[in-house]
Amino acid sequence: QRPKVVVTRQLIDEAQKLLEADTDLDIVQWTSDQPCDRTWLLEHAKGASGILLMLSDTCDEELISTSGDQLKVIASFSVGTDHVDREALRKRKIRLGYTPTCLTDAVADLTVMLILMAQRRAGEAMGKVIQGQWPQMPWSPLLMTGPQIGGSTVGFLGFGRIGQATLKRLLPFGISRVLYLTSKPGQPVKEDHFGIIKDASIPIEPAKDWEQLASESDVVIVGCALTPDTKHLVGTEFFSNMKKFAVLVNIARGPVVDTDALITALDKEQIFGAGLDVIENEPNIQADHPILRQPRCVLVPHIGSATIATRVQMATETVQNLLAGLKGEAMVNEVEL
Ligand code: GLV
Ligand code: GLV
Repeated sequence: QRPKVVVTRQLIDEAQKLLEADTDLDIVQWTSDQPCDRTWLLEHAKGASGILLMLSDTCDEELISTSGDQLKVIASFSVGTDHVDREALRKRKIRLGYTPTCLTDAVADLTVMLILMAQRRAGEAMGKVIQGQWPQMPWSPLLMTGPQIGGSTVGFLGFGRIGQATLKRLLPFGISRVLYLTSKPGQPVKEDHFGIIKDASIPIEPAKDWEQLASESDVVIVGCALTPDTKHLVGTEFFSNMKKFAVLVNIARGPVVDTDALITALDKEQIFGAGLDVIENEPNIQADHPILRQPRCVLVPHIGSATIATRVQMATETVQNLLAGLKGEAMVNEVEL
């Protein structure tokens, strides 16, 4: 009997071909353009040896036990793995593949975009033009002014590949100092992925704690994994420590930032603005959501890695991880469970 694999999306052509080239597999695939239906997934996971899934699919005890003892591998089309119950996989020695390297540049690009959009009020400014307000707001010395990136102290909450690739892009803008916080506050980072920390001509220092990072940064970038420790790490207290002209950017996971606290901080002008690629309860953000009434908040719908080249590479690596997991071979990237 051929091993069954369940795939929760139609894949980009290159990756789909790679998957189908393995004729030893019984491929069961969700082909709609909408996220995979949970009932469908549970029903088809029965007897599966491998599951290729998206970050919108929860991989929990229920899915794993429903699949059965033959399940060998989960291949996630993502860098984040908070939708996966790692402990449940570890217990059963099921391997987990993910795509932490190929999307680094795309997400770092988007991070820079969000910083600049928040500092320079791009969403607010374009909104006014679209509403036909430009005639009432002719050029003036203080029109739409905001903080400047050059000279900024940049604080990274989480300082892995994406944070460091963002730093690489920010150095030429003339930022003046970097603070970072990892799961070991006050400790230097384990890996200098791009040699950027060693070579930089500005101070790059571990923050003692989040209070220091919040109070001394002009730009705060949330780039850490979502865990019980980081949920709502950026909340009321964090915002009250931030500088009045600071901006907050979140490219990680929505729940690291407490949305109500962010809205209050923007209302009270405790911070200057925000740029979000992710938000709590996404994608269920209706047009009447209070965050959308914040002119200083730029919000885009979780598109950090959405360049064509990156998505092709992610899809390809995810299929490679799936196949490697089935055959007991080395994956492109595997989570240490
Ligand atoms: C995107 O958020 C990802 O985890 O790949
Ligand atoms: C801006 O347009 C300027 O001329 O300063």
